[in-house]
Amino acid sequence: MDSKIKLLGISGSPRKGNSYYLLNETLKDIDNIDFPVETTIYSFAGKKIQSCIGCFKCNENKGQCILKDDFEDLRQLWINSDVIIYSFPVYHMSIPGQLKSFIDRLGNCFYGYYEVSSMRHMKVIGALCQGMHFFGGQELATSFILQHSVLLNSIPIAGDGWHSYTGAQGWTNNKTDRDTMKQLYDAKDLDTDITFTAAKSVVKRAVEMAAIVKAGASIHEDKLKKDIRYVPFLERMHASDNK
Ligand SMILES: Cc1cc2nc3c(=O)[nH]c(=O)nc-3n(C[C@H](O)[C@H](O)[C@H](O)COP(=O)(O)O)c2cc1C
Repeated sequence: MDSKIKLLGISGSPRKGNSYYLLNETLKDIDNIDFPVETTIYSFAGKKIQSCIGCFKCNENKGQCILKDDFEDLRQLWINSDVIIYSFPVYHMSIPGQLKSFIDRLGNCFYGYYEVSSMRHMKVIGALCQGMHFFGGQELATSFILQHSVLLNSIPIAGDGWHSYTGAQGWTNNKTDRDTMKQLYDAKDLDTDITFTAAKSVVKRAVEMAAIVKAGASIHEDKLKKDIRYVPFLERMHASDNK
């Protein structure tokens, strides 16, 4: 069984700004985690991911979406990863539309992509969310991501209290510049320090949980593989066995 944990960090902002910085800086801490991790960062900046048009053609086309854009690349990265860390700005007390469009299409295109529904994706999913205001909807936006993980038969993860209740949340002190998080972190701003402490613990716990899930899967593999809904997950567990 592949012992490496594949972690996909998704920066869900249309610009390379605070979400990207929070994610990238947090993942620099990965060497302090006691498990081997392979990280990939995907940024929505410069990418085109259109909204689902509700044609349901994906259900007929083995899960292939008729919209041709950057969706498929990100879907494949998502499918192949054990841990997904979403880092995103609050938009109107929720997640940005581009990220929602990806999640809509991801969920719907799984019908047809696999032979049956309710696949056991078994990802460990964490959320890092920041906005410009102190109470700007960070927890609401985070809760959407946690619901998304439950809906895709995955495992939502928080960090350690007291810094992290449902993930990592932060704010940019009413500033809209894309490098505000960096400036505040460099200046050792207390609130921003809490955000990063929370973010690092979200990532650490996500990796640990993925390692536990993998170990459990290896013990129970014979039983699990009788259920077709576990097969892609088990295949992912063995993805680089022969490399
Ligand atoms: C369309 C839009 C809606 C926003 N809505 C909120 C909001 O509801 N609450 C909030 O605190 N900040 C809101 N913001 C501010 C962003 O969350 C904030 O600027 C964030 O730091 C941007 O992150 P980024 O640099 O990764 O894009 C909004 C920004 C935009 C462009």
